[in-house]
Amino acid sequence: MTTDHKKHISWNSRWTFIMAAAGSAIGLGNIWKFPYITGENGGGAFVLVYLLCIAIIGLPVLMAETLMGRHSRRNPISAMSRLASESDTSKAWVVIGLMGTLAGILIMSFYSVVAGWVMDYIVESARGSFVMATQNQVTAYFESGLTGNPKLQLAWHTAFVLMTVAVVAAGVTKGLGNAVRFMMPLLAILLVILLGYSISVGNVAEAARFLFSPDFSRLSAEGVLKAMGHSFFTLSIGMGAIMAYGSYMPAKVSIARTAITIVLLDTVFALMAGMAIFPLVFAHGIEPGSGPGLMFISLPMAFGGMPFGTFFACLFFILVLIAAWTSSISLIEPAVAWISENTRISRYISAGIIGLITWLGGVACIYREGVFGQLDMLASNIMLPLGGLLMAIFVGWIMKRKIAKKELEDLSYNQFNLWYATLRVFTPIGIVVVFAYSVGLLK
Ligand code: TRP
Repeated sequence: MTTDHKKHISWNSRWTFIMAAAGSAIGLGNIWKFPYITGENGGGAFVLVYLLCIAIIGLPVLMAETLMGRHSRRNPISAMSRLASESDTSKAWVVIGLMGTLAGILIMSFYSVVAGWVMDYIVESARGSFVMATQNQVTAYFESGLTGNPKLQLAWHTAFVLMTVAVVAAGVTKGLGNAVRFMMPLLAILLVILLGYSISVGNVAEAARFLFSPDFSRLSAEGVLKAMGHSFFTLSIGMGAIMAYGSYMPAKVSIARTAITIVLLDTVFALMAGMAIFPLVFAHGIEPGSGPGLMFISLPMAFGGMPFGTFFACLFFILVLIAAWTSSISLIEPAVAWISENTRISRYISAGIIGLITWLGGVACIYREGVFGQLDMLASNIMLPLGGLLMAIFVGWIMKRKIAKKELEDLSYNQFNLWYATLRVFTPIGIVVVFAYSVGLLK
């Protein structure tokens, strides 16, 4: 299929989009970040707010973002410019594309450092370092051996950035689908195995209570902001990644059905990861709020005690790496597409430039205390929801209704209106209320 815009092609099958979008959504956010921030923010109440945000904010915005991309068939920055002029409104809406493209670069900076840790863990598992390892040993390895060793982190971070740049440089049509088609089912199977193990040796009752019985006294205002931010992060929305992917989506595919599939898959992966990790955390007396190391400490111990543990550990971390890879591609795709479609710079060079910038961001995370957390806070919890708020307002109030109607033509009258009303009213109110609450304007 061809489009009217030069250099912009379209994917040829419905599955390619689902695979690409699910590949983008399912990543370190589900397996690493969700459990650790849930642990840090007191458990159940945080999970509940996160799930509410997914339903009221995440799904409607995911649909809006996809349709903006598919309708305009451009990278997010050019897409906003085109959509704004089509709706006879100010070009200032391009800010959505600009801020999002920047957010992707910022997120990639720390994301690739964590993906680097995963790469290191593949090697350590293969060497059998975690066989029968005690909690002290694994903790010592994570804290001193790995995150206390900047050179080692730098090497892995560099490798991961190169892996991502290579795929983006080659163009999104190649390579993506296959990796995801094998990775996702296999990762799901491994999570189930891990879950089974965790249930048999871990403290399931305590884990279930922690994750699913909400205690709002343990959820701070900042925790509420983080729950909302994570609902954006985990679905890859609010920055234009999904808009970029939507721009390659064939016209006949149902956006609503696809979006629901992605949300369900993504949520199942996150909850499975949580239910695999927390029974081990409680059984071993690991502090749930111990931070980014939560997965990197609890899981090696589990694998270390399991039959065929070395094999499973190695396979697991390889799959997590692939999941991170298919996500990171979407973090820099908007920036690379924008440069290569609007300048005479080739896709290869554009990918190299963006790769270099994110590499430098990662270097800052590795060598400077605090940068990691600040980048995450700014990009995930502020820029993404702000981008989502602007998208909801734009699609709900500014953009011509008939564009949305046409892109969602498979929906019934009531279904369309349910989505439209949510996007226009509840989504923006939800985001604004969380922002206001988190800075203390609401008590
Ligand atoms: N969703 C991915 C994860 O959970 C991360 C990611 C990829 C992302 N692309 C994104 C986050 C775009 C925000 C925006 O690991």
